[in-house]
Amino acid sequence: MTIIAFVGGGNMAAALIGGLLQSGHPAASIRIVEPDAGQRERLTARFGIAPMARADATLAAAQLVVWAVKPQVFQEAAAPLADHVAGALQLSVMAGIRCEAIVRATGSPRVVRAMPNTPALIGQGISGLFARQEVNDAEREQVRALLDCTGQSVWVEREEALDAVTALSGSGPAYVFLFAEALVQAGCDMGLTPEQSRQLVLSTFRGAALLAEADGAPLAELRERVTSKGGTTFAALESMRADGVASAIARAAQAAQRRAAELGRSLG
Ligand SMILES: NC(=O)c1ccc[n+]([C@@H]2O[C@H](COP(=O)([O-])OP(=O)(O)OC[C@H]3O[C@@H](n4cnc5c(N)ncnc54)[C@H](OP(=O)(O)O)[C@@H]3O)[C@@H](O)[C@H]2O)c1
Repeated sequence: MTIIAFVGGGNMAAALIGGLLQSGHPAASIRIVEPDAGQRERLTARFGIAPMARADATLAAAQLVVWAVKPQVFQEAAAPLADHVAGALQLSVMAGIRCEAIVRATGSPRVVRAMPNTPALIGQGISGLFARQEVNDAEREQVRALLDCTGQSVWVEREEALDAVTALSGSGPAYVFLFAEALVQAGCDMGLTPEQSRQLVLSTFRGAALLAEADGAPLAELRERVTSKGGTTFAALESMRADGVASAIARAAQAAQRRAAELGRSLG
């Protein structure tokens, strides 16, 4: 039985713990460090696991330590654990904190970084994963299985690629919401009710994504299939082309990637 310790018992930790329990992992093998009393109560009520208020020597039994605190409190959260967790595999879901900072703070060279996104909270997320070379194949598999509880995952070969993952899937739900908001508003302007508009738009996003996954054809081909020359979709796409929508999206993603790199440098 692998003992897994979570440092931070917030949203992301809860999504992972829920997935672990559902996949048959025993509650008795899960430890949680969570300083907030209200949050500890909620975790106990939801999972039947009593979190500890602060780290102690019992954490030395953990084979896997999952870092799920906000990046700004990582150093403070790590200090009391440093003496206990150097022998464990470290998995971080913290945005921006580089592997080297985790190695320094924990004393363990075996570090995997994950960049999840918010749909993980309903089991529909996607995570980018990067492992340092000290992490062996069985450990990579263990981490992938844990993250699979929250959706899908994609391995990247270079740590910097996680900044691109952040720019696509990490921040991506917000781009989708912006596009959806604008389309819902357009529907309202055309006389649909907000409820009708919202249902039409959200269902269209879900359906289009599922169709693209199921079909597997290149996205450009899928787009062309619904675009007959001179038709309604053609008119909309011509308007988007004239407005430079595709290049605006590319610039936005690049801005997110640059910001992820900057945050990574400032957080160490
Ligand atoms: N939510 C997402 O979808 C998502 C997506 C991508 C990446 N992430 C990353 O995942 C990490 C966690 O995010 P989250 O949404 O789960 O945040 P969260 O809900 O705020 O959870 C963090 C938890 O850690 C606790 N904590 C604070 N200081 C601590 C300490 N010294 N020792 C132990 N625990 C401590 C917090 O308690 P208090 O409430 O008392 O502060 C809180 O319960 C972040 O680094 C975030 O960047 C999250």
